[in-house]
Amino acid sequence: MRTQIAIIGSGPSGLLLGQLLTGAGIDNVILDRVGKDYILGRVRAGVLEEGTVRLLEEAKSAGRLHAEGLPHDGFSLAFDGRDHRIDLHGLTGGKRVTVYGQTEVTRDLMVAREASGRLTIYDAANVTPHDFNGAPYVTYERDGVAHRIDCDFIAGCDGFHGASRRAVPEKAIRTFEKVYPFGWLGLLADVAPVNHELIYANHPRGFALCSMRSATRSRYYIQCSLDEKVEDWSDDRFWDELRRRLPAHHAEALKTAPSFEKSIAPLRSFVAEPMRFGRLFLVGDAAHIVPPTGAKGLNLAASDVHYLFEGLSEFYCDRSSASIDAYSQKALARVWKAVRFSWWMTTMMHRFPDTGDFDQKIQEAELDYLTHSRAASTALAENYVGLPF
Ligand code: APR
Ligand code: PHB
Repeated sequence: MRTQIAIIGSGPSGLLLGQLLTGAGIDNVILDRVGKDYILGRVRAGVLEEGTVRLLEEAKSAGRLHAEGLPHDGFSLAFDGRDHRIDLHGLTGGKRVTVYGQTEVTRDLMVAREASGRLTIYDAANVTPHDFNGAPYVTYERDGVAHRIDCDFIAGCDGFHGASRRAVPEKAIRTFEKVYPFGWLGLLADVAPVNHELIYANHPRGFALCSMRSATRSRYYIQCSLDEKVEDWSDDRFWDELRRRLPAHHAEALKTAPSFEKSIAPLRSFVAEPMRFGRLFLVGDAAHIVPPTGAKGLNLAASDVHYLFEGLSEFYCDRSSASIDAYSQKALARVWKAVRFSWWMTTMMHRFPDTGDFDQKIQEAELDYLTHSRAASTALAENYVGLPF
């Protein structure tokens, strides 16, 4: 089989790229090692920047997002028992974010993919990119039969644990990593959120986040140590701990219901450089990971897709490689600014086990400055709504 673009990974990166390529008449095949249901079973953050929404509109996959997504003009930082609202809309000249679960984004992209009639191969084993400095091709097995797909380019959209980055010779790639000494214990419950906007709380017992999926479905997180086991956390224990970390008026207003999802996720910052190797491109989580504090993971995947689609469509339409050649540098420039922001917000809002008295005073001064300086809160707001593509 031959295609123009072989896309490895049917998560948000691969599906969004596939939709944009299809819309531009560029043939593409998507391969994934698991099936749709497994992919849709993943629970991920859901705060979309305006640039991401625009890309989903371009990919003809934003109908439900506009019908069900929740536009948010601000969020609150809670510390010392009080809320401090960050007025995103006012501080950024009218920008906002949309709260809409990543699972729903993926579901919408899968529906659009299905409607496009383009080939998507799920449950593909041992997907391997080959000869990406020459005549690229991808091999895989399915139902015990070996297959090969010859292509012009390979898009490695296969996430942090994927095969694409692993296929790059060690001497050709440089990685940067920071692992945080805590995780997030997350819970989903069908109950009204405690607040109409998100609350990021910094408390001596640890960080907490009050988020949502809809007006009737809440998403909560509490910072936990890396040796915590989710089975040790009953719903009651979770709700009690969450209440302790919120200002009193939120703790009193908190509505609870049985959880239907509870899990612990570690936090890391990771960047691989460069993001292009001949005719292989790394996209999204395959190239970078951010702690979820700044809600940047999905939005960075979207900006990578934007830059790569720009390059590929220029290659096929204008027979120019200029934007392909600029992909890695342009994508990384935005990636590193989002990695910095996510690191900064994580450092500011969490309690680190080895924090001394001086560091704690610095964190408190940072929060005080941030919530009393228009310049400082504007910097937070412009990063949170998303820096320009
Ligand atoms: N072969 C084929 N498919 C693979 C392989 C492999 N060796 N390894 C991983 N995959 C598939 C996974 O099954 C998954 O469906 O690649 C897809 C990668 O999807 P994501 O991990 O969601 O990465 P991405 O599409 O870049 O989306 C980034 O996901 O992890 C969140 O916070 C992150 O919101 C961000 C978004
Ligand atoms: C979520 O709703 O899962 C979420 C929202 C904002 C974040 C992280 C996670 O910063």
